[in-house]
Amino acid sequence: MTASSSVPSVTLNDGASIPQLGFGVFRVDPAETERIVGDALEVGYRHIDTAAMYRNEDGVGRAIAASGIPRDELFVTTKFPNNGSGSAADALRHSLDQLGLDRVDLYLIHWPRPKLGTALSAWQELIELQQAGLATSIGVSNYRAGDLGLIIGETGVIPAVNQIELHLEFQQRELKELHTQHGIATEAWYPLGGGEITSAPALHEVAKAHGVTPAQAILRWHLQTGNIVIPKSNRRERMAENFDVFGFELTDVELAALAAVDQGAAGRRGGDPNEL
Ligand SMILES: NC(=O)c1ccc[n+]([C@@H]2O[C@H](COP(=O)([O-])OP(=O)(O)OC[C@H]3O[C@@H](n4cnc5c(N)ncnc54)[C@H](OP(=O)(O)O)[C@@H]3O)[C@@H](O)[C@H]2O)c1
Repeated sequence: MTASSSVPSVTLNDGASIPQLGFGVFRVDPAETERIVGDALEVGYRHIDTAAMYRNEDGVGRAIAASGIPRDELFVTTKFPNNGSGSAADALRHSLDQLGLDRVDLYLIHWPRPKLGTALSAWQELIELQQAGLATSIGVSNYRAGDLGLIIGETGVIPAVNQIELHLEFQQRELKELHTQHGIATEAWYPLGGGEITSAPALHEVAKAHGVTPAQAILRWHLQTGNIVIPKSNRRERMAENFDVFGFELTDVELAALAAVDQGAAGRRGGDPNEL
């Protein structure tokens, strides 16, 4: 069994499969992206999460091309900015060109943009792009309950994924429950908290009990609570650490202790979809 084959897949509501553990490249320097993604692919990651707004899709593309890994063994996500600067069709064509691909596995709307009022029109555009074969699966990111209700109600097409900020201190239980009701997979951004790992004693006790690092215990918590997770690291040793999370299992008591670390709305560390 290869390292990458130990990663479980999640079946999406359109029948496609996504590796539950992937590698994110937000705040990865474009000049370093080819090397960093190349390292991640060597470590065993087969799912890469980028976005037009990260300005590093070309580095991701070069790393994929240099790896020689067959296209059907890779899962590549990118995102439509939906910031009023052009159509999703133009944005996806540009992303595909940068990535050196003829389709992405998952295309997401990066933000709902309530100030622009384009949460629905962007979704209608993505439905067309999926029908045209340019994206195998389509989904959203940072969509709130009301945004999901709007796009599902108006189009009848349920996003495969909603990628949202989700970590120990911001567990988003209500939104996750809504995802479950609709059959939307939950993908966690800032899975490790976005930089600073929480000092909550429960986490450090759980990690110690299993002889793993706090980051590994957090990622295990994500996997066991059903989240798709895309940690980022520039450092190869941390990429390997974050990938080595399949040799232990948290108990129900430990999962309950980690559930109690949630701070509700006060735990948000990243951008707020109400404001952006
Ligand atoms: N849809 C959205 O709006 C949105 C927003 C934000 C992020 N994302 C996606 O989610 C991915 C993950 O989020 P993120 O990168 O912002 O945050 P993250 O994965 O929660 O945290 C990354 C930070 O943690 C550090 N780190 C990584 N592994 C570690 C370990 N084992 N021990 C201690 N520290 C560790 C990294 O530093 P080093 O690099 O120095 O190791 C980096 O500073 C992004 O890359 C992106 O693909 C999406």
